[in-house]
Amino acid sequence: MSAFILPKPGEWDGDVRPLFLAPMSGVTDLAYRLLAKECGADFTITEFTNSTALTRDAATSWRKMETCEAENPFIPQIFGGVSKDMALASELLSDSADIIDLNFGCPAPKITKICAGAALMGQPENLVSMCEEVVDRVDIPVTAKMRLGTGQGDFNAKEICQELEHVGIQRLCVHGRTLKQRYSGVADWDYITSVVESVELPVIANGDVVDSDSAKACLSQTNAAGLMIGRGAIGRPSIFGEIKVGLGWMEKEDLPWIKAHEGNWENLTETAQQFATRRWCWNRYIELARETTGLELKSMRGHAVSFTKGLPSAKKIRSIMHGKTSKEEFAAATSDFLASN
Ligand SMILES: Cc1cc2nc3c(=O)[nH]c(=O)nc-3n(C[C@H](O)[C@H](O)[C@H](O)COP(=O)(O)O)c2cc1C
Repeated sequence: MSAFILPKPGEWDGDVRPLFLAPMSGVTDLAYRLLAKECGADFTITEFTNSTALTRDAATSWRKMETCEAENPFIPQIFGGVSKDMALASELLSDSADIIDLNFGCPAPKITKICAGAALMGQPENLVSMCEEVVDRVDIPVTAKMRLGTGQGDFNAKEICQELEHVGIQRLCVHGRTLKQRYSGVADWDYITSVVESVELPVIANGDVVDSDSAKACLSQTNAAGLMIGRGAIGRPSIFGEIKVGLGWMEKEDLPWIKAHEGNWENLTETAQQFATRRWCWNRYIELARETTGLELKSMRGHAVSFTKGLPSAKKIRSIMHGKTSKEEFAAATSDFLASN
């Protein structure tokens, strides 16, 4: 086992279990991953990247695999329909990566039509042999993320996970939906429980964890080795610390946005606390981006919309975006908006 992969734990009795920022295309850029860590996430994973493009040295794909010394562990996620490309891309990444994560969960037609992502769950033999080829090729741990099944016929994640245990995959993550469901319906934590019970590997539960109540309910029901959070962390990286405080795993005063606040946090209204939290997160995101990849307007725009979502007069951010041409101006204007409460 690697230092980053703990053995499967027993029943959950309130003990501390790791929280993962889910890999999310267009969201989990390097600065956002570093920010999520500062906010309390224990592990982060890159957005998925095309293994074949990596083997062909495509610059845009390699840019998604950018990391820095502070990112520890570095866990790139790759997808693809060709085993030899998945193995070669893993080998190319293994110099900088601590763990390689394989994607068998993406439901997007442009991915499934090349028999990659969640489509491979409809070809379990190919999925398993692909994993075996990758495990055999690299000296670092390999993990896999999948759905319940394709949605045609019975769920098959359990059988696949059992096979993956035999070929040397070291950790599993199950998103409690099928390929057919994409993001609709409710995540099936019952089925995730049955996967947890059927293997000796640590299984991370994923789907519909959005706060400390749902985190508690998901851990109590599944006894998973950890939780992975996706949509709940978009624009709200603070969710990780908030969950840890809610579960009694950390003190509220240690949350970085509360530590940084001058004055009595408890005297602020709930809305003012939301603004202050998001402002801290936004400013820190900008600092981290400057220190690593540099500011990128496309990522900043996406994050600015998410960071301001649900706040009073959030629509203002649209006019801020249209009015500002330079990245620094845009960063400052968004920060000012978040200070405007
Ligand atoms: C915008 C977006 C992009 C995503 N990109 C990826 C990806 O690159 N790799 C992956 O394994 N899953 C991806 N997912 C799925 C999430 O990792 C996660 O499995 C899913 O959102 C369910 O978790 P949640 O209910 O906490 O959102 C993406 C989801 C969203 C919303």
